[in-house]
Amino acid sequence: MTGIAGRHVVLGVTGGIACYKACTVARRLTEAGALVDVVMTASAAEFIRPVTFEALTGRPVVASLWEPGRALDHVRLGRDPDLIIVAPATARLIARAAQGLADDFLTSLLLARRSPLLLCPAMNDQMYAHPETQANLKKLKSSRVEESKSGVTVLGPATGPLAHGEGEGPGRMVEPEEIVAHAERLLLAGPPFAGKRVLVTAGPTREALDPVRVVTNRSSGRMGYAVARAAWRRGAEVTLISGPGSLEPPFGVEVIRVESTGDLNAAVGKALPKADVLVMAAAPADYRPETTSATKMKRGAGGLRLDLEPTADVLGGTVGKRKRGAVIVGFALESGDPVGLAREKLAAKELDLVVANDATEPGSGPDAPTNRVALVSKDGVERLPLMSKDDVAEHVVDHVGVLLSRRG
Ligand code: CTP
Repeated sequence: MTGIAGRHVVLGVTGGIACYKACTVARRLTEAGALVDVVMTASAAEFIRPVTFEALTGRPVVASLWEPGRALDHVRLGRDPDLIIVAPATARLIARAAQGLADDFLTSLLLARRSPLLLCPAMNDQMYAHPETQANLKKLKSSRVEESKSGVTVLGPATGPLAHGEGEGPGRMVEPEEIVAHAERLLLAGPPFAGKRVLVTAGPTREALDPVRVVTNRSSGRMGYAVARAAWRRGAEVTLISGPGSLEPPFGVEVIRVESTGDLNAAVGKALPKADVLVMAAAPADYRPETTSATKMKRGAGGLRLDLEPTADVLGGTVGKRKRGAVIVGFALESGDPVGLAREKLAAKELDLVVANDATEPGSGPDAPTNRVALVSKDGVERLPLMSKDDVAEHVVDHVGVLLSRRG
């Protein structure tokens, strides 16, 4: 499975108040299996003691150029890692790096760098807005060393409350989860997903009966959100068309909100011509009320009959309108013989892959956090054990990657 386990990351920490959040960055990367070497400036060590990072990463921390036994480490650590992150990056670090100064371990390492750099500025909003800081960032963004992939990515700063009593403005370091997501993308992006456009649909749709009542289903959207996240991590440009739900949108992904199956159909139709991959993980309502009352329907003495009419088959409707060579993935949520029915869907809707599952199995189903699926394609059937929807998404995206590579 694609992940960052075993990848080598240097985390530079400079002396801004946001450096307490760098502890979470170090921890999350280490939890994901990365080998994290923390390099602290002298000012950072005034905020947090190196031993904190040592405990979080299980590796020695560098806090000075003058530590015995580390004479050439600034060159080695700049050259060797898969990624360098500086979080937080203070105005002072940005100025020194932009000038090519090598007056401590971290700036020396940045000058000797051959790895990609992810820089996360954090400072007072006026310091950030200052033309000198802006010029320094511009210079750094355009600096590339050796291979083109070793450029500088500046992430943030975010807008929000600054240090206590400093009001709000652009200057806050972005949150650790976002830094880790971007770090993963920098580590994992590459063929066949880099530069590809992936369109994912997720969640239920809702068909209105009246201003307060809807016809809908139990879909949580988790599966589609996880696929969108996994494809973005591998370097794709991802658009997620999402039905109603409360999930946090994945970082870096363009999210288009829809309500009804008709809205979903229109949004898919608009984005489809450019999509290299379509993953239809949404559970669109198959029927809608024939009429929608403009006012709230009152409870009556007797029963209530609803007349429903079919909605559009969104996935079926994409046949003949897809980009040449696009990889098309459908889902088949069944209650009995999911693989057999998935095979039928594969042919009927001209799909490359169908993710089939049985809604009645324990641990599976639209609102469960886990799923037991079979991946059905022309190549055959791959039955996966019960696993989290995040892991299912990785398998689905792996499979899509194989199909994309075959199409060149
Ligand atoms: N789908 C769609 N438009 C619909 C209903 C479903 O595009 N109105 C898509 C789903 O996103 C999924 C696939 O079709 O990728 C299969 O959905 P499913 O509900 O299992 O199958 P249906 O084709 O609707 O057929 P049935 O419900 O009869 O099995």
